Amino acid sequence: MEEFSTLLVAHGEAEESEVYGALKGFRGVDDDEVEHGSEEHTEGNKALLALLEVEDVGSEEWDERLEDLAKAVSHHVDEEERTILNGARENVSDERRAELGDAFQGERARQLESDCGRLENVRKLVHR
Ligand SMILES: [Fe+2]
Ligand SMILES: [Fe+2]
Repeated sequence: MEEFSTLLVAHGEAEESEVYGALKGFRGVDDDEVEHGSEEHTEGNKALLALLEVEDVGSEEWDERLEDLAKAVSHHVDEEERTILNGARENVSDERRAELGDAFQGERARQLESDCGRLENVRKLVHR
């Protein structure tokens, strides 16, 4: 669970800080879709926090929250791919996309290193 938490948070944080803002400047990338993606990162973090806060791992409550989280994440990943990232592929130059990809990977690595999926950090992100 810890590993999943870390990967999920690193994904959202790296996109928010390095990719989403940059993509908003491009025609052909729908700003509302980017906004929606941000909201879904927040929803994902909330669902993650709700799961991490269940004390009894494997309980019925834990199962339900895991399912909520899985749904939220798979919806986001699918929609992000079809809307934001496809928009970027069609409208942003290869060179600029490569730059954004590098910036994303760099921030993602920093997040992973800082153990971004730990409970206190997820709490902080949800309440910011
Ligand atoms: Fe995302
Ligand atoms: Fe959505």
